Amino acid sequence: MGIDPVLSGVPETALWTLFHRTSEARHPRTVLPDPVGVALADRLDFPFAARFGRGFPHQAQTIALRSRCFDDEIRAFLADRPDATVVALGEGLETTFWRVDNGRVRWLSVDLPDSAALRTRLLPAEDRVRVHAGSALDGSWMDEVDPAHGVIITAQGLLMYLPPADAEALIVACAERFPGAWFVFDAVTPLVDRQLVVSAGGSSGYRPPPLRWFVAARDLPRLRTLSPAIRGVREVRSRSGRGVAGWVAARLRFVPVLGRQRPMVVRLTFGGDGR
Ligand SMILES: C[S@@+](CC[C@H](N)C(=O)[O-])C[C@H]1O[C@@H](n2cnc3c(N)ncnc32)[C@H](O)[C@@H]1O
Repeated sequence: MGIDPVLSGVPETALWTLFHRTSEARHPRTVLPDPVGVALADRLDFPFAARFGRGFPHQAQTIALRSRCFDDEIRAFLADRPDATVVALGEGLETTFWRVDNGRVRWLSVDLPDSAALRTRLLPAEDRVRVHAGSALDGSWMDEVDPAHGVIITAQGLLMYLPPADAEALIVACAERFPGAWFVFDAVTPLVDRQLVVSAGGSSGYRPPPLRWFVAARDLPRLRTLSPAIRGVREVRSRSGRGVAGWVAARLRFVPVLGRQRPMVVRLTFGGDGR
């Protein structure tokens, strides 16, 4: 008998991303090998396809390509700072650590109490990985971060669920607390919100929680003005994936009209040396 994850609302969306990421990981020519994620999904007693439906065409690969952008950013940061700390806000059941571990990185996973408890129960314990049970919005997790060897903060699939003022206050708080850090997050537009609602829902009639914070490509310069501590803002370019869908996914910015509404992965760099 598997483990019933018992999550609802925004925390349940971690099962939705796990489902798509591991569906992609099971493909023989996957863009994101993820054996730890697949083993985790297999332990759960959860009707993924019946609950969530199959989604829009190539959704699994699209979600995996998003994760691969985060992996690439972390690897790039660690290439210069191998002993850095990765802080993964709203990490859910992501298994990034096992994909990018260089044997030295330290990891702090931050999620709401029920999600953090599930993560601790299901994923292997590691000496260099800690789990903080609490909201990313109450800054207490910051006291657990040793900035001595560099800090990279990720917020994958998190900020769009927050009220805009909270999402932006979190970015500013990180910028002011962690000079020299990178902050990598994904952003969506109202078009993505509509697409998710239309494509979601298996036999259960699943309705995803509403998205609240939207950032389109034209908004990127405004992010730079949120705090003087934010020195750089740039879109992270995806590498091509598999087949035509994977090729197009990496080139959405060139698609007329729709390209302006594309989902993005964004890297902010914070001022100061910070090492
Ligand atoms: C879409 S899931 C993303 C999970 C994971 N990052 C991924 O990409 O698979 C959203 C995650 O954000 C978490 N979350 C929502 N609000 C949060 C908050 N205020 N602080 C920390 N985590 C939060 C949820 O519990 C859930 O794990």
